[in-house]
Order: sequence, then C-alpha cells, then structure tokens
Amino acid sequence: MITDVLVLNGPNLGRLGIREPDVYGTATLADLAETCRATGRQLDLHVEVRQTDDEAELIRWVHEAADARTPVVLNPAAFTHYSYALRDALAMRTAPLVEVHLSNPAARESFRHTSVVAGVADGTVAGFGLLSYQLALQAIADLAARQRPGTVVPETADPGTVAPDTVDQEPLAPETVQTPQ
Ligand code: DQA
Repeated sequence: MITDVLVLNGPNLGRLGIREPDVYGTATLADLAETCRATGRQLDLHVEVRQTDDEAELIRWVHEAADARTPVVLNPAAFTHYSYALRDALAMRTAPLVEVHLSNPAARESFRHTSVVAGVADGTVAGFGLLSYQLALQAIADLAARQRPGTVVPETADPGTVAPDTVDQEPLAPETVQTPQ
C-alpha cells in the first residue's frame, strides 16, 4: 500500500546549494527532492516535496495535511526556533510528523537550541544532511505502518539494547548457569 507523505521545507531552504555550503552542503533543493522521492519509492511512500519562505503558506500546508491525514516530514528552518503559530498548527496534526534539520542546531548558536516544534513531533532527526530526510522518511514509513489497522509491525531490533522479553526475567540461579566447556 502506497502512503502519501509531504516533505515541507521552510524559509531559505530554496537557496540550498549556494546557502552557507560549509553548513548545509552543496546539494540543491532539487537534489533534496529527488533524494526524498527515491527513498520514498523504496519505502512504498509517495513523496511530495515543497518549500516556502512564507509562514502563512507553510501553515496552510500543515492544515491541508491534517485534513487529509497525510504524514509530514518538516524542516521548519528558522521557524523552528520561534513560530508558535506553526507549532499550534502542527498540534492539530492527525498523522505522523518528523522534524528534520540538515545541520545540528544543538551544536550551533544558542538561539538554535530551542525548537518550539519538537514537542508536537513524533521525533527529530538533525545533523546528517540529506540523510536526515532519508531517516525521517524511514521513521514515517514505520509509524504509518503501525497506525494501519490490523498491521503488526515488530519493534526494530537494536543490537545495543536488551530484548523486551528478557527485561523482567529473574537472573539465573548460580547453579543453573552453564559455562562453556
Ligand atoms: C535548519 C537549521 C535552522 O536553525 C536554520 O534556521 C535553517 C536550517 C537545518 O536544516 O539545519 O534554516 O533547519
């Protein structure tokens, strides 16, 4: 089943490629869009990428997504740090939402350390350039599958964590521990 996803980008992201390439890389918005669509095809997602410098337009797109129950990957750009209007619009969401950033705002100027959006998102991916968007789409695919009625999606295995069914087990009594020969 194909899921529609909107990848929304805020102000100045239309300038990617020439905008502070040391921070944001040399890929253009067109490159970003192609990467997202290609990743989407692998994940059974139909991805539409949009960008605006206009807060009102971005909020209209968020409303549209809420009305259509469309999952969203959002790079709010500078709106991340101060747009309560965008945050309030996102709070009305009806489908998964992942916040993304090309750079790692936590490692930059202090005004970038606050995200007014993070608290209404399912999660945030930041600091990996275009890979941030690919990881976000992966998360959207997983979240959308979980929300589909009648679908059982196993937890993604993380080799670094203890499997849930072993967490509550009593430790083995010493006499039952078998040492390899
Ligand atoms: C950004 C980080 C924001 O702080 C900045 O205002 C942007 C881009 C990023 O993708 O790294 O415009 O969202």
